[in-house]
Amino acid sequence: MAGNDHEFGGQHTEIKLAIVEAYLKRYSAALHNWCKQVWYIDAFAGTGSRTVRVAAKDGNLFEEPVPEHIVQRRGSAQIAIDVLPQFERLVFMDIKPRHVAALRELQGRHSDRDITVLQGDANGLIQAEIAWDGWRSTRAVMFLDPYGMNVEWETLKQIAATKAIDVWYLFPLSGLYRQAAHDLASIDASKERAVTRMLGTDAWKGELYSKNQPPIGDLFGEETTEQLRRNEDVAGLERYVKARLKTVFPEVLDPFPLPPNQKPQRFSLFCAISNSSPKAISLARSFGRDILKSTSQ
Ligand SMILES: C[S@@+](CC[C@H](N)C(=O)[O-])C[C@H]1O[C@@H](n2cnc3c(N)ncnc32)[C@H](O)[C@@H]1O
Repeated sequence: MAGNDHEFGGQHTEIKLAIVEAYLKRYSAALHNWCKQVWYIDAFAGTGSRTVRVAAKDGNLFEEPVPEHIVQRRGSAQIAIDVLPQFERLVFMDIKPRHVAALRELQGRHSDRDITVLQGDANGLIQAEIAWDGWRSTRAVMFLDPYGMNVEWETLKQIAATKAIDVWYLFPLSGLYRQAAHDLASIDASKERAVTRMLGTDAWKGELYSKNQPPIGDLFGEETTEQLRRNEDVAGLERYVKARLKTVFPEVLDPFPLPPNQKPQRFSLFCAISNSSPKAISLARSFGRDILKSTSQ
C-alpha cells in the first residue's frame, strides 16, 4: 500500500458511510435555514479516502473478465467536505500520524475551507474542543467511527451537554459481547474497566448478570457455587446500550445493525441527538428514520 492508503471495512463500510452522508446532506440543508454556523466534527477521521480491493469478475459472452483491482473511494472526511450546502467549519481528528498527514494534505487541497486537523486521542480532543460557550448559535454533527472500544462515556456526556451536537456513533457491539463474557467471574479487571469506561457505570454487572437457575450443585446435591451468568443476548445488549445512551441524550434513534446480514452483528450504528427542543428531535427523527428505513429495504 502507498503512504496514505487506508484499507478497512467491507460492504458494511459502504452502508455506514451512505447512511451518514444521507444524514449530513439533510441536516446541513435543514439547519442552514435557521443557523449560520453548521459544523462537522469527525473524531476518528482516517485519511479522507479508503482503499478498496474489488474482487475479480469472471467474463461471459458479453463482458470481458475483470481481474482483482484496487480503487480509491471517499472516506468520511472527504464526504463531509463535499456536502452541500457546505459546513462552515470541519474538524478532523485522528491519533495516527500517517492519517493526520493525509488529513493535512486534504486540508491543503481545500484551502478555501475552514478545516482544522488535530492529532491525538479523540476523547481528550473532543472534550477540549467542545468546551466553549458558542453552542447557542452553532450546531454540529459529529461522527464517532472507532475501530473498537475507544469512546469513553465521559466524552458522550460532554457531547450531550452541548445540547447542539447530533452524534453518529458506530458502537462496537462485538467488543461488548466479547468483553462482557457469559460468565461474570471469567471477566478480568482490565476488561471490566473497559466495559465500565464505555458504558459509564459499573451497574452493568448487576443489570446484565444474574444467578444461574438452579445453582450448580456438587455430587451430593449440596449447593456449592452461585455463578453469575449474562442474562442478555446480543439484541438485549444492544437494547441496554440504547437505554444507557438515553440517560444522557434526549433522543436516540433505533440503531442500524452492521454488517446488516451477519449474525451476530458486529456494530450498532446509533444516532443520538443532544438538542432537547421538540423541533430538533422531530427533525432528526424524520431524517434518521427515513434514511435507516430506505437502507434496510
Ligand atoms: C474506521 S477508521 C475511520 C474511518 C473514517 N471514518 C473514514 O470513513 O474514512 C478509525 C480511525 O480511528 C483512528 N483512531 C484509532 N484510535 C483512535 C483514538 N483513540 N483517537 C482518535 N483516532 C483514533 C484510526 O487511526 C483510524 O484512522
